[in-house]
Amino acid sequence: MPGGISPGKEMVKRMTWQEIEKELERRKLPELLLSADGSRVENAADMDRRRQQIREILCREFGGYSPDFPVTTEGKVCIREENAYGGKAVREKTVLTFRTPFNAFSFSFELFLPRKEEYGKEGAPVFVYLGFTGTPADGPGEEIIDNGFALAHISYQEIVPDKNDGFANGLGRFCARNPFDSWGKLGMWAYGASRAADYLCGRPEIDSGRMAVMGHSRLGKAALWCGALDERFSLTVSNDSGGGGAALFRGKTGEHVSDLSKEGSAHWFCGNFSAYAGREEEMPFDQHFLLAMTAPRHLYVASASRDEWADPRSEFLSCAAASGAFERYGVPGLITEEGAEQGGVPLMPLHQGHIGYHMRQGTHHLGREDWKHIMEYRRKHGV
Ligand code: GCU
Repeated sequence: MPGGISPGKEMVKRMTWQEIEKELERRKLPELLLSADGSRVENAADMDRRRQQIREILCREFGGYSPDFPVTTEGKVCIREENAYGGKAVREKTVLTFRTPFNAFSFSFELFLPRKEEYGKEGAPVFVYLGFTGTPADGPGEEIIDNGFALAHISYQEIVPDKNDGFANGLGRFCARNPFDSWGKLGMWAYGASRAADYLCGRPEIDSGRMAVMGHSRLGKAALWCGALDERFSLTVSNDSGGGGAALFRGKTGEHVSDLSKEGSAHWFCGNFSAYAGREEEMPFDQHFLLAMTAPRHLYVASASRDEWADPRSEFLSCAAASGAFERYGVPGLITEEGAEQGGVPLMPLHQGHIGYHMRQGTHHLGREDWKHIMEYRRKHGV
């Protein structure tokens, strides 16, 4: 496998910090903690400034600029079911409408609220979940409620269809665009999740201080972009997000910028991104920049051992490479010791730091085991 440690047996090998650092050095990543003026990022104030620079780089070269017009958001509940999941939750189907001085757009999503007795007066923590389907899969939905969380389930294509349609549909028509640095569809899905957050902040049943944005695969990429741009999310969760998500491009196995620049996915990013096909070493960023944008809040990256296309090792290393940003704020990023003591990074969830990580054994999938670890992490950190 070109330039990477092949996943498989090596994945379960113990990796010390020294080995991680050596591997990161080998990948020759752009420096996260070096400001544009050449000075070192030493403290929180420096990191705040550096995050602004990183945001610019990522908007220009990766996700594109999302519109930053003032926006007002309203939600209208059109269906309310008092006894979802056998009486354990209330389900609401809500039409969300948001307006800027120039345009308006609507999409609907489903909100599942645990019964009042299940949460304190500050409200329930919520998962703003970007999903592939219209309703949450039966299993996880009920378990999420049983664990005391609310769930706002957004079916992503309600926001904008996932196809190369010249941005002619859905939020693709929301504002004028250029072929270079205008938002791609990851940005549109992220923007939709942020509008859901506008609405949820005004619901007394929801704790606006404990909102997580989450997605799997391409929607894990969108969740990371959302959490990077919208600081109201106390936690950002990516599951098997791979290339264009959590995984470092440099030294990666599986998917590369050249793959992502093809018909099925080029529209996820801004136009400038595809210029790096076959030239990843020239990118002024790598994906640890994206992860670092969530600092000093909480971030959770979940991988699967046989997800070679996404490359779990490069997702893990990206978390390690982003850790310095968290440390500059005085909080720990990824802490690997607990896993290493158990005989290897991937075998134990790493839940101590502001970056949580686990690697499930198996292929590309968001499963019950993933949800279980993620909910445990949320409970442990109160996010
Ligand atoms: C493809 C694509 C990935 C993406 C995945 C998905 O495999 O290459 O980048 O994450 O689809 O979203 O399911």
